[in-house]
Amino acid sequence: MSDKKVTIRCLRAMKERGEKIAALTAYDHPTARLLDAAGVDLILVGDSAANVVLGYDSTLPVSMAEMLVLTAAVARGVRRALVVADMPFLSYQVSPEQALANAGRFVKEARAEAVKLEGGRRTAPAARRIVEAGIPVLGHLGLTPQSHLALGGYRVQGREADAAERLREDAGALVEAGVFGIVLEGIPWTLARTITAAVPVPTIGIGAGEHCDGQILVLHDMLGLGGGDFTFVKRYADLGAQVTAAVATYCREVREGVFPAAEHRFEPQGERDRRGQRGDA
Ligand code: KIV
Repeated sequence: MSDKKVTIRCLRAMKERGEKIAALTAYDHPTARLLDAAGVDLILVGDSAANVVLGYDSTLPVSMAEMLVLTAAVARGVRRALVVADMPFLSYQVSPEQALANAGRFVKEARAEAVKLEGGRRTAPAARRIVEAGIPVLGHLGLTPQSHLALGGYRVQGREADAAERLREDAGALVEAGVFGIVLEGIPWTLARTITAAVPVPTIGIGAGEHCDGQILVLHDMLGLGGGDFTFVKRYADLGAQVTAAVATYCREVREGVFPAAEHRFEPQGERDRRGQRGDA
């Protein structure tokens, strides 16, 4: 991994060289810094924030105002990765002009470097308008959570031949509109392989198998931080259990008078000078 700034051109070159793209979601500044230092290529400020950090029961309620705050916090922590802001439900579906105005806010106010929109042919005019204004767009096809009501739930998409054909056409429409990449979520791996081979831009899979040009996971799912427990997620750490254990130990030590100990307290003036203790108290 080079420490050169990742741009949309780098991602395209990675696809051409057959190098896999590693992407993750982040929603706050300290986590974004950790992900960036660890070498993640693309950080998505996903509207999954609605579920995993804001406590909503779907992505539909999250607002532009909430997503702007989270995106700005992430962007301030990232030096290398490409920062992509997820456009929330109804911030781009009303008209291409509305889509451009809101995409522009992510770039101007929150310092995102690209935006992501869900949908294929129906979203392509909005994607085109944003791209024409100079803002890179990442598409998102398959199981698109903002459409879960219309899809009848969070269901794998494109299993039947006609549905697969529609998704291939959607991918073509997005490429035509100028997207720099496409997230493929919750589709059979064979369909993801076909789309990946057919499009010139990188595909980034989540629940779409190993043939995509890159992979993305929701951070809270892969770290065991109270996200979901899905078949397509690999759990890389169990931070939820570690946090609970650490906090339980803290509570016990406070109650038993074990914390704070002598090394955690401030001394009065004379003692402070003698020990060379730092800090203002
Ligand atoms: O919101 C999100 O986190 C996403 C990813 C799952 C791709 O859209």
